[in-house]
Amino acid sequence: MTTLLNEQLNYRDNQLQLESCNLSSVAQQVPTPFYGYSKARILQNTARCQAAFAAHNIDIHYAMKANSNLHILRLIGSQGLGVDTVSAGEIQRAIAAGIPAEQIIFSGVGKSAAEIRLALNTGIGQFNVESAEELALLGTLAQAHTQPVKVALRVNPDVAVNTHRHITTGTRGNKFGMPPEQALQLFRDYADHSCLNLCGLAMHIGSQICDAAPYGQAVSRLLALTKTLEAEDIHILCLDLGGGFGIDYGNGRSLSFSEVAAVIADTINTEVPEYDGKVVVEPGRSLIADAGLLVTRVNFVKEAEPRPFLILDAAMNDLMRPALYQAEHPLLPVRHTDDGGFRQLDVVGPVCESTDTFARDYPVPNDVQADDLMAFLCAGAYCSVMSNSYNSRDIAAEVLIDQDTFQVIRRPVSQDDLMAFED
Ligand code: LLP
Repeated sequence: MTTLLNEQLNYRDNQLQLESCNLSSVAQQVPTPFYGYSKARILQNTARCQAAFAAHNIDIHYAMKANSNLHILRLIGSQGLGVDTVSAGEIQRAIAAGIPAEQIIFSGVGKSAAEIRLALNTGIGQFNVESAEELALLGTLAQAHTQPVKVALRVNPDVAVNTHRHITTGTRGNKFGMPPEQALQLFRDYADHSCLNLCGLAMHIGSQICDAAPYGQAVSRLLALTKTLEAEDIHILCLDLGGGFGIDYGNGRSLSFSEVAAVIADTINTEVPEYDGKVVVEPGRSLIADAGLLVTRVNFVKEAEPRPFLILDAAMNDLMRPALYQAEHPLLPVRHTDDGGFRQLDVVGPVCESTDTFARDYPVPNDVQADDLMAFLCAGAYCSVMSNSYNSRDIAAEVLIDQDTFQVIRRPVSQDDLMAFED
């Protein structure tokens, strides 16, 4: 397993620090479990991503479903990125965080009429439409607007990717997008539409993909369609290639921004060198996952056969990914000792079901005991946003760390908060 310690995450004086902030000091002021994010790491990831894609003139829209905290959105937005949204709620958050409306793309397989109306009233930059049925509804609702609405059709390129089946989206039989032939027909049918300007093609083939080859294959399919349309005098002005770039969760596998950017650019330059429209990508996880931790406290070390349990105060409601995708998030002790060695434990949370298991047969320092702090790594993406209050647990706080200071960017959501909705 790679250690995943880095410039922002390291031990000093045997204490785990995010930037130069001691996590144990944060835990004295913020109840565990809590999510902690490194501001410097988010900015560094964003800058690396921008440099890699800007080299090929590719724009970036942050897929904010990965982490939609307003402070995180403002931080990423302040670097000039647009956003990819999938609900009215995300559009509202993007606007609240100061993202310009024209920098908002609205994706999603099941937009409701109310969501489409909100997006039209907001004046967002582009709709990524996933079906003939959605396009018809958008066409009707857009009649109330004077500005023509920019539309990209999401194509399902039917390429295989090597990731968990629950986060594969670009193969036949997935609910997402439409076959290229159907997109072609819709472009013809809507060529002279008075309110809809069909001018883009979109795709998103899955998430946590660690191999650039499927991007080449999928882009190739979009380009074939672009050429066919061009021959019919229908011009594609935007290719939105989605996100999905994998990060290292400790097994050493990831996809670098520069590698995927080069594959995309090479494919376009080889197959349609005359293409002069925009190219967009929508990374989520790769901008934020490794900037975040979930800090948790040990409730008990329960001696048991065949293996003891490390019972934490974090549960599947705070970190759903292991239960949903059998994901593994490395777990480190906040206080480091090198003398005692390790023993193998099953790492679980307190929720009353067996799926509340983070790892089995996992090496934990021998001297770990109740009340110790531990940290799950790579918890910046798809953790807080997927959290819930199952078992009537509070929803964990979020903290943004900047050098040796921290700011609570979401306070914990308590049972009093939640019960207030049930008056
Ligand atoms: N664009 C679209 C249209 C998407 O559906 C997604 C993610 C992205 C971009 C960003 O993908 P990323 O770069 O973050 O991989 N909850 C799962 C991940 C679900 C991803 C859904 N769509 C997880 O925890 O692994």
